[in-house]
Amino acid sequence: MLDARTIEIVKSTVPLLESANTALTEHFYRRMFRDNPELKNVFNLSHQKTGRQPAALFAAVLAYAKNIDNPAVLSAAVERIAHKHTGFAIQPGQYAIVGHHLLETIKELAPDAATPEVIDAWAQAYGALAEIFIGREEQIYKENETQAGGWRGTRAFVVKEKRTESEQITSFLLAPADGGPVVDFRPGQYLSLHLASDRLEHNEYRQYSLCQAPNGENYRIAVKREQGGVGSNFLHDHVNEGDTLQVLPPAGDFFMEVTADTPVVLISGGVGQTPMRAMLDQLLSQGHNAPVHWLHACENGAQHAFKADIQARRQAHANLETHVWYRAPEATDQPAEDYDATGLMDLSRVKDAISQPGAHYYFCGPIPFMAMVKETLSGWGIGDDRLHYEVFGPHQSL
Ligand SMILES: Cc1cc2nc3c(=O)[nH]c(=O)nc-3n(C[C@H](O)[C@H](O)[C@H](O)COP(=O)(O)OP(=O)(O)OC[C@H]3O[C@@H](n4cnc5c(N)ncnc54)[C@H](O)[C@@H]3O)c2cc1C
Ligand code: HEM
Repeated sequence: MLDARTIEIVKSTVPLLESANTALTEHFYRRMFRDNPELKNVFNLSHQKTGRQPAALFAAVLAYAKNIDNPAVLSAAVERIAHKHTGFAIQPGQYAIVGHHLLETIKELAPDAATPEVIDAWAQAYGALAEIFIGREEQIYKENETQAGGWRGTRAFVVKEKRTESEQITSFLLAPADGGPVVDFRPGQYLSLHLASDRLEHNEYRQYSLCQAPNGENYRIAVKREQGGVGSNFLHDHVNEGDTLQVLPPAGDFFMEVTADTPVVLISGGVGQTPMRAMLDQLLSQGHNAPVHWLHACENGAQHAFKADIQARRQAHANLETHVWYRAPEATDQPAEDYDATGLMDLSRVKDAISQPGAHYYFCGPIPFMAMVKETLSGWGIGDDRLHYEVFGPHQSL
């Protein structure tokens, strides 16, 4: 429990943090990787180069300082970050390293403002937050370990099938090498792979949404080849059927909480359809009563993954409607059969169908795509409590 004086001092540093902005977290990561280079095997260094992780950490630190007297505001973010941390196997002992570099960063960037009182207040505030994360992360680790088919840390999985789903997307069916069952997950959640190979400069953790409903035996993920991407190219080029991958248990705070009579709209761009597929599986297998809309946008037929599978589901389920946009169809792509509209996704085209009272909207895709979806749906008066999205990378608020 932080005392009033500590809270007051931390809050008083908000303008300082704001003026430093992401220079704060960029400095923090630079000094941490300099002194603790072993953490290069934990963090995704591409997210450092693109600046997305320093931005995500800065947003979290600033939100914490601003809301330190009202931590309830932070609970959704804490939940998301704790889940993300478990996907990188973060351990309690590592909190001291991060805390040390954070305090040193404040001292180095703002030597005048960083009085002993300020540093002491931040040390206490960091310690309180670290305790919350450590506690929640241990709970998640324990839940995963103690459920049927669960485990802690990494577990060896064999690639049972490697299947081309589109020009850029390949799916991998993974089953435990020990032949045992696998823990159920909540559709929308992801697996983390721990990639280690002579072909990689560092060990890498990567998250992939589970793209079929839980079945107790195996998991399927689908991976898009990212240009210049370390993990996805390694998986596409060097991981084959029969190979073993080290896998961390399912995690993530993105999942559905709807009743059988809630209209559901699943909206995806490109590989963002993966969590939606598991959600769709869940809805259809549970005999969802209300309408379900599947909205998907991609480049063209060659990049349209899982097309036949979704079409078959639409034919089998009267309450499922699909709407597909191709940005630039090719001559071989058949309008009405393969896709419904050309160009970028335009939600106004399906407004009457999808803006049903009480509907919940789940979406995933590139950030600009999700920003468009959020802006449009918010503009129709749909509240944030019915809008749910997943960012495929360091979190960013839309
Ligand atoms: C919750 C979650 C779920 C996800 N689910 C899926 C999924 O189902 N399917 C899927 O395919 N992906 C998914 N992802 C994304 C996935 O985890 C990886 O981020 C993705 O595969 C790219 O990883 P990579 O190692 O290939 O690319 P990285 O090496 O991480 O690079 C990422 C991007 O940064 C660029 N980059 C690297 N260095 C620089 C630089 N110096 N300057 C500028 N740009 C640079 C790369 O070119 C690349 O485009 C998910 C992510 C999260 C967080
Ligand atoms: C109170 C302390 C901490 C805070 C506030 C914090 C905050 C964050 C945030 C905001 C993210 C992004 C989450 C998302 O994308 O949803 C994140 C990711 C991450 N954190 Fe932490 N974190 C803390 C401690 C730690 C510690 C101790 C470690 C271990 C060294 C760690 C390692 C990571 C890693 C590896 C990622 C993923 C990075 C990536 O995708 O590139 N964090 N953290």
